[in-house]
Amino acid sequence: MTTATARAHPNIALVKYWGKRDEELMLPAAGSLSLTLDAYATTTTVSLEPSAAGDRFALNGAEADAGQAERVTRFLDLVRSRAGSTARAVVRSHNEAPTGAGLASSASGFAALAVASAAAYDLDLDREELSRLARRGSGSATRSLVDGLAIWHAGDDDASSFAEPLEGPAMSMIIVTVDPGQKKISSREAMRRTARTSPYYTAWVDSTARSLEEMAAACRAGDFTRVGEITESNALRMHAAIQASDPPIRYLRSASLAVFDAVEQLRADGVEAYATADAGPNVVVISRPEDARAVSRHLAGHGEISIVGAGPGAQLITEEDC
Ligand code: DP6
Repeated sequence: MTTATARAHPNIALVKYWGKRDEELMLPAAGSLSLTLDAYATTTTVSLEPSAAGDRFALNGAEADAGQAERVTRFLDLVRSRAGSTARAVVRSHNEAPTGAGLASSASGFAALAVASAAAYDLDLDREELSRLARRGSGSATRSLVDGLAIWHAGDDDASSFAEPLEGPAMSMIIVTVDPGQKKISSREAMRRTARTSPYYTAWVDSTARSLEEMAAACRAGDFTRVGEITESNALRMHAAIQASDPPIRYLRSASLAVFDAVEQLRADGVEAYATADAGPNVVVISRPEDARAVSRHLAGHGEISIVGAGPGAQLITEEDC
């Protein structure tokens, strides 16, 4: 019996992933780019139980619900088929993100599960292969294998759709939690509805592919201003496409827009800050590291604030043969 433990962090996309070309292989409609954070880690231990009848999955000390358990089993089935094993596993996962902050992400969860389960089932995979494996659990997890800035190439097939590191300007992220409640529609479901019903979906996919090229060039040039501008415009385009779905889905609330307004005011006052938001009401603001304190003071009345920076990709912590 082998046990392995891995640790992974969530990431925030500067060019967003929103839409799949292939649901089975989890190939995205376009590439994306993100920063892996240095906070809110998920630590996951996978222990093989050859005589058990099924997998077991506990999250933060409690038995996970049926939907979560099923997603973990489907992921482990992939790992088992590759390893030629039928052994079931006990998966224990602990997430350091405050519940409801929108950061208890499937990205850190499946990145940690990919690394821990590959080690437990004795698969010898390099970082690129682990990134591809994590992708099968959740698209955004593809990028959490990488330290700091990560570019996820859309790819043409399973082999070419993975994330790799990219040089870029130093930046901080100021997370503004305007609403700690759970999101009502999951990213997975909302992505499907956007692709099926939003008249702007094709334009979103085309413009994201172009923004990604421009973003990668701005990162390589160390051009923080351009990185910020593309980040904010890409997030607003994603939300425009989502809002145009039928029935509509609106993640941004008035409190979220107030943060976008405050960030615009900061820029008018000469502090470079740019806002982005994922599939929920909370807003993430990027700034140069030396401006992060001033930005967080300016946003203080808008919700819980935390400042985070670039963190490491998913790592194996311990491995033992019993
Ligand atoms: C808005 O990776 O959670 O955060 O692949 O269906 O598991 P699935 O979706 P998920 O979607 C993330 C959406 C996003 C944008 C991003 O992280 O790029």
